[in-house]
Amino acid sequence: MPNNDFPVFGSTNNSLLKKHLTKEIYYSLNDLKTSSGFTLDQAIKSGVVNDGSNVGIYAGDLESYKIFAPIFDKIIADYHNFSTSDSHTSDLTPPESGWANPDPEGKYIISTRIRVGRNLADMPLGTAISKEQRDEIESKVSAILKGLTGELAGDYYPLAGMSEEDSTRLIEDHFLFKAGDKYLEAAGLNRDWPSGRGIFHNHDKTFLVLINEEDQLRIISMQNGGDIFQVFSRLSKAVAILSDAFSFLYNDHLGFITSCPTNLGTAMRASVHIKLPNLAKNMEIFEKITDEYFLQIRGIHGEHSESEEGIFDISNKRRLGISEVDLLQGLYDGVLALINMDKEAV
Ligand code: ADP
Ligand code: ARG
Repeated sequence: MPNNDFPVFGSTNNSLLKKHLTKEIYYSLNDLKTSSGFTLDQAIKSGVVNDGSNVGIYAGDLESYKIFAPIFDKIIADYHNFSTSDSHTSDLTPPESGWANPDPEGKYIISTRIRVGRNLADMPLGTAISKEQRDEIESKVSAILKGLTGELAGDYYPLAGMSEEDSTRLIEDHFLFKAGDKYLEAAGLNRDWPSGRGIFHNHDKTFLVLINEEDQLRIISMQNGGDIFQVFSRLSKAVAILSDAFSFLYNDHLGFITSCPTNLGTAMRASVHIKLPNLAKNMEIFEKITDEYFLQIRGIHGEHSESEEGIFDISNKRRLGISEVDLLQGLYDGVLALINMDKEAV
């Protein structure tokens, strides 16, 4: 039995975990285990040891969200504004009306990227998976990906054996994940690194799948410019093929099940890398617009990175209780509002 003591959080820790984990909740859950053997102490370790955590908790499997519901439900409600009686509906069908390019002259948007996370229905999540299960996922998923044809056809590159030069180039080009993320490390997601991990991409690098990172599959569509509709249409086609080949963890309450509760629901982050030189000088107005459209500002090297040269990563903050298509409409409207405001603020 774990029966450990209530964790000591650093004074600078502002995570949702610290906010919501009471002694009462901790001691009512700390000797429970899911059927994959995942405990509360494993779930919260990342948030306890990393004071920079915003959220600070990971699930080991679908069961974690049920067994440890007293803490997960509070964090999910706070992050997603989503209650235990709410439900989630997915909609990955590109609307017939499409979306016009919010930046037809290509002055603001450098690139557009949409990713969704997926995990296999009959496996624990990466936090609780064994090396054998992880390797099995790599071989099954890469086999299907290698059979893709047409625009999606490409090759699989396992991380094990990849030269440092190739991996650095793929990271700098914003395709591959960085090794050694301290949040994932503490969550147990980097165990047996680099075995079982890899990246598939098509010849144009507009369709990519990361295998066994934070989620078992991160399915990505990206290209230069601001044609959100084309990027989404490619993603939707690829997700449909993979959903025919695999059964993904999903339920009507939480949508697609992911290891981090921030990604539940659509598991989708749709982003543009965008230059907003005038708004960059007035973060107050910038943030007022992003808040209004439920958008998040990140730096250009991804999460926990800073903006460089007035270029920002703008993406949907919400993922749960709203469909993929509605989130993209919000991104389109918000990006248009940001561009118009940047034009005015001369
Ligand atoms: P996530 O996969 O959750 O979206 P990150 O924020 O870590 O995670 O981003 C992963 C990578 O994708 C980073 O290298 C980031 O710079 C890159 N990226 C994100 N959005 C875009 C975009 N619109 N265009 C080009 N690269 C992007
Ligand atoms: N665990 C990290 C934190 O709490 C990341 C949370 C959201 N991001 C993610 N990649 N899941 O800050």
